Formats: sequence, C-alpha cells, structure tokens
Amino acid sequence: MCGIVAYIGGQNATPIVLGGLKKLEYRGYDSAGIAVLQNGKIEIRRDAGKIDHLETLITQEPLEGNLGIGHTRWATHGAPNMQNAHPHISSNGEIVIVHNGIVENYLSLREELSAEGAVFRSETDTETIVLLIEHYYAVTQDLLRAVQETLKRIKGAHGIVVMSSREPDKLVAARLGNAGGIAIGRGNGEMFIASDLPAIVEHTHDITFLDSEQIAVVQKDGLTLQTLAGTPIEPIWNHIPWDPVSAEKGRYRHFMQKEIHEQVRSLSDTMVGRIDFDDYRIMLPDLHLTADEAQHIRKIFITACGTAYHAGLVGKILIEQIAHIPVEVMVASEFRYLDPIIDEGTVVLAISQSGETADTLAAMEEGRRKGAKLWSIVNAIGSQAMRGADGSISMQVGPEIGVASTKAFTAPILDLYMLAVYLADLRGELTDEKRHELVQDLLKVPTLAQKTLAREGEVKKIAAKYKDIRNILYLGRGINMPIAYEGALKLKEISYIHAEGYPAGEMKHGPIALIDQELPVLVIAPKDKWYEKMISQIEQAKARGGKVITIATEGDTLIPELANEVMWIPETPWLLSPVITSIPLQLFAYHIATLLGLDVDQPRNLAKSVTVE
Ligand code: AGP
Repeated sequence: MCGIVAYIGGQNATPIVLGGLKKLEYRGYDSAGIAVLQNGKIEIRRDAGKIDHLETLITQEPLEGNLGIGHTRWATHGAPNMQNAHPHISSNGEIVIVHNGIVENYLSLREELSAEGAVFRSETDTETIVLLIEHYYAVTQDLLRAVQETLKRIKGAHGIVVMSSREPDKLVAARLGNAGGIAIGRGNGEMFIASDLPAIVEHTHDITFLDSEQIAVVQKDGLTLQTLAGTPIEPIWNHIPWDPVSAEKGRYRHFMQKEIHEQVRSLSDTMVGRIDFDDYRIMLPDLHLTADEAQHIRKIFITACGTAYHAGLVGKILIEQIAHIPVEVMVASEFRYLDPIIDEGTVVLAISQSGETADTLAAMEEGRRKGAKLWSIVNAIGSQAMRGADGSISMQVGPEIGVASTKAFTAPILDLYMLAVYLADLRGELTDEKRHELVQDLLKVPTLAQKTLAREGEVKKIAAKYKDIRNILYLGRGINMPIAYEGALKLKEISYIHAEGYPAGEMKHGPIALIDQELPVLVIAPKDKWYEKMISQIEQAKARGGKVITIATEGDTLIPELANEVMWIPETPWLLSPVITSIPLQLFAYHIATLLGLDVDQPRNLAKSVTVE
C-alpha cells in the first residue's frame, strides 16, 4: 500500500526520493508527492496519478535540497487528489509529514483541533497528525518531543517520517503497531529511510528496522533511537544482501514475467544452506527447534492471506503426509475473530511474502496471546513477521515486485516441504532411506521448473485462443486442489476475468450446472493417484459441451485425445507437483493479461502489501 522514502545527506534529495518512490510503485498507489527543504523553506510537489506525472511537475518547478521526504498514497480517507496526497504540511508551513496507517480516532482529533482554530485543507486522517505535531511544537519547541506527544494521542497503527524547517539537521521517523515497516539505511554521511527495502538497497545494504513504539532521530551521520516513552535503544544493524539489479526488470517486459522465470533460481536459492549433503538431512537453524520441542508439537496452525494462504493449504498436506502432525489452515483475516483452539502444544505458522500484511501480523499476535509458539515463512528480510516470530524460514528469493505473487508462492511450498522433512526427522518418523528419497526429490525441482518454463511458447498460444473468455473454472484434486485456487486467483488479479478454483470432486455438487460452450474448464491432471478421477472430470465437462484445457504429464497419450488444449509438465514426484503445475498457470494468466494490454505489474485496485485490515 502506501510507500515512504526519505533522505538526509550531502546530495540533492529530490532524485533519490523520486527514485525510491519509483521502486515502491509495485506496492500500489493512486497519488504521489515529495517535500524538500529548499533554501530554508519546505517546498511540496504532489498530485493524483503516477510518479511520471510527479516528475513532470518537478521538471516544471524544480526542487533542490539535502533533506527530503516522499510518499505514494493508496487512498483510504478522501479521494485520490492533490489536496489529499502526501506530504501534508502544518498551518505555519514549518512541519511536514508522510504517513502510512489509519488514525482511528481522527474524527475526534479533528474536532478538537478545529475547536482550537486549526484549518484542515484535506479530507485525510494524516493531516490531524501534522496539526497535532504543530500544536505540541508550539509548546515544546522540539520536534522529537512534539512527535512523541502526538503519538501518544493517535490510535491505530502507523509509520511516519517528519521534517521541520526549524530543525533542518534531522528527520524524525516513528512506528506504532503494524502499519508497514520503517527501514533506515546508513551511508557515508547520508541516511535513507523507506517503508520497503527496494527503495534504498541501491544506496546502502546497511539497514536497521524500527519496531513498534520506537522513534528515531535520523541525522546525516547516524541515528539515535528510543522508545515512545523515551528509553534509549541501541540500533541493530543488518547487512541486507539484496542485489539492486534483482529489483530491476532486466530483459523482461514485466516484473511478473521476470519473477516467473526467476523460479529456476529462486527454487534453488530457497534451499541454500538448508541441506546437509553428507547425509541428506534438512537443516533449519533459524527455527531454533530442539528434538524434544519437536516431539511435543501437537498441532500446527498455518495462517496467511491470498497466495500465501494457498501455499499453506499445500503445506498442510506436506506436513501431515511427511511428519504426521495435524495441521489446520485458516485465512489470517478470520483467525483472530474465530477463537481458534490453541495451546502450548500448538505452533502458529504465518506465511507472508511481505511480512507486513496486517491480518497476518494480527493472527500472529493472537497466536502469541494464546500461548502458541510462533514461526513464520517470510520473504522480506527484517519484516515484522520475521522479527516477531520465535523462529523463521526466510524464502531467500530476493525482492518480488509484481503485485501477482509467483516466485513467493513456489518457494514457500519448498520451505514447507523442507519443514515437513525436518520435523519428521527430529521426531524420528523417517528411515534414512525415506529421508534420502525425499531430499533427492526436492533437489530435482529447479530442473523440472526449467523444463516447464521452456514450454512458455505453447502456453502463450493457448492464452491467445482464450484471451476473450469472461469466465473459467479451474479444477484440481488432492495436493493440486490449492493450485486450482491459486491459478484462478492469478488470472482474476491481472486479467480481470472471472475465474473460480474448485475442488474437482465437488463439481457434481453444483458447478457442473455452469458448464456449456461458453465456460472453459481448466483441469489439473498430472499422473498421480487422482489421475483417473480427473479424466472422468474432463469427460463430464466435454459431455456438456465445455472446452477443456488441461495440465498433463509428458508422455500422457490419453489426455491429448480428450482435451482441447494441453499444457505439459515433466514427470514430478507427487508431493512436489504443486510447484510445477503452478508454473503453466502463472504463464497462462500472464500472457492473457498482456495480450489484453493490461498493467500486469500493477493491476487495478490491488496493493502488493496490504497493511490495513
Ligand atoms: C498474490 O498474488 C496477491 N497479490 C495477494 O493475495 C497476496 O498473496 C496476499 O495479499 C498476501 O501477501 P503477503 O504474502 O505479503 O502476506
């Protein structure tokens, strides 16, 4: 959702902040703005629309100064227009803020400030924050203290960066609750702040992250950190290994296409450091788990949203099949409202690409409150879901920029597979022979992905035939049932075609009524124990005049006779087949959307990180 970038140092802040905002475009936004301290005065350029438009405004009226803050806004309070775009400035023009989050008590604060004579120039909740800071600054004459006092008054979760023309040697950054991250990067005589790492990794890999209720005073040579109550804290600096090039499109037309193709590498990367090749053992040291603790796990509760939830559904089958531990999976948006049955024998496992999805973080908090051990599988290094867990597995796939998640779907499936093998091993459930077989199967996956990606041209031809459909039904069974959900989600997200994922065995209980010449059915039918049943689904759909697109295993001679189209995958061990069957579905969605001329990387109404409930 909203993005924050800020700079203090010896360079002109404008291109650095603008460049950072561009790197955050993938998060989704509808207006953008920047404030720079120019010749002792705060100057703002902001408007609805894309950053290209903001750049044009800056070309017309240039901005230059060593201190600057910028923002991409995803409208919550008030329409996306110039008045509501961030940064928001105080009445006296001396304090300016960018903000992520929602001020839950903004109406009462607005009334209170209006009664004191404050004039609001926007419909946003954010303006109440800057006017409160102005109010407290008049009393304290100190920016840090004014921000501290203000944060005590506002309800909800927030990330903010504030600057003042009265204190031009600093930026004040703060975080309250889980409204997205605040990362602070240090350079040589310059400092960078951003809500998300791709905005600043081009400049520095030396990063510290703000926790909830922490405030940083950031100056060009470093920072001082304290709690909201004023207790000093020593910052923890992390070296972030991300290569800035991985946040660029390179030779690909879209980030999504690049990320689909990167899966050969990301599927290998997620295994790096986790396989002991001497005896084919899985090692997950960041879970901090002993054999005794593993023995005492009675249940694993997976919670996540969207694509990550679908990975969790696959994870349930993997953990139950391999480690024989009961697993429940629940969407994170429901978790805290359904009083899930959790005790000290339960592990709550959150899965999240961004590590900052508000519902997922709230589910983790609920798990903590009820006494569960917390684990997470996360991509964004240093994110709240990673730091807030007792143990975590990093996806290790580098930044994912496309809003439609692809490589951050397949990597956690491998992580869940490794987790299942690791738990089974610690609990004494595996013979050496079985462990060897499971790990050898795992090692085949990157090559299988490569073979599947090599057939992109065939999938593109099928996409061209079906690009004008308005509805489609995806069917899967067993371990590929979640892949039917995920395939359908991918298509609807980026092509705006109505797609429904359904358990194939349920078709006869209702959806079969929909099938006619107008409704294609996509059947995931690899050669596994559900194969015969999927053949019968294909026949039932054909009998009703439906067009059938299938995913089938190379060498299958029956399916090409029955189906209208076939997307081929190589023969794959069944427990790992979801990683491979999902690839043609990613490509199918991608090519349909590009053939329709749609904005694949930033689809309408969607944000990469959903940091509000
Ligand atoms: C994926 O294509 C979606 N954009 C979305 O469902 C996403 O997976 C979901 O919002 C969860 O995000 P997270 O993994 O960052 O928590």
